[in-house]
Amino acid sequence: MSEQRLKRRWRSPLTTGLALGALLVASGCTNNSGSADSANLVNGKQLFVQKCGACHVMARAGSKGVTGPNLDEAFYAARRENWGDDGIRGVVYGQIRYPNQNAPMPADLVTGKDATDVAAYVSTVAAKPGKDAGLLASAVAPAGGGKPAVAKNGLLSISADPNGQLLYVESAATATAGPLKLEMPNKSGVPHNIVIETTPIETPVIKNGVAKASGTLKAGKFVYFCSVPGHREAGMVGELSVR
Ligand code: HEC
Repeated sequence: MSEQRLKRRWRSPLTTGLALGALLVASGCTNNSGSADSANLVNGKQLFVQKCGACHVMARAGSKGVTGPNLDEAFYAARRENWGDDGIRGVVYGQIRYPNQNAPMPADLVTGKDATDVAAYVSTVAAKPGKDAGLLASAVAPAGGGKPAVAKNGLLSISADPNGQLLYVESAATATAGPLKLEMPNKSGVPHNIVIETTPIETPVIKNGVAKASGTLKAGKFVYFCSVPGHREAGMVGELSVR
């Protein structure tokens, strides 16, 4: 069939989405997607990073997921055509409620006021240059710059970023050679695991809880990473030195 078909398993909803958004704007019926004035953008950003960022790149949110389309690219044309934040908000809200059922984006990941806040945040920042400022700049704590994880009594714990960013809290770790128990606490709700490259040590993928694995390590330097597609490339990787 067409090349398009071969490249993507599902069709981009942007055309239908834009049509829906146009309808909402044209009929003045934007109440469903909330009013920008009453939206809490800080809440919107935090929820976006937690619930959407693992699948979508959006520069202002610092999100790097690659399962879905890059949202800056998705709304570039809409910005150029002067849709305005309101028009884009309607499209995002519609997408949250009614994603294409054949695509891997679940409906209603956020609901009610939260959905309004997320749609408002995306419409405020998608495809806009620059950086989030003020309260938005500190809405989500940076991760990955934490102190190295140090194994104690053969137990090494490396946490997934609790805010849903595709990062480990500790991007470096040390352990001593010998038996190792590896634990990855994950409070984010985003599926992650941890694999120590070139060893059989690999935890299951979990969304919440503590993923565990064990094995024996020789001295040397190892890379650990998340094997969920796109996560390693997004930065979910670190270095383990074993002495
Ligand atoms: C599990 C991965 C996943 C999650 C989580 C996810 N999305 Fe999506 N999203 C996708 C995919 C895949 C598509 C493309 C769907 C299609 O082509 O029909 C998409 C499409 C979109 C689009 C339309 C973009 C375009 O090119 O038309 C928007 C807007 C969007 N998502 C926003 C969100 C928001 C907001 C959230 C969080 C509430 C979210 N997504 C969470 C995977 C995801």
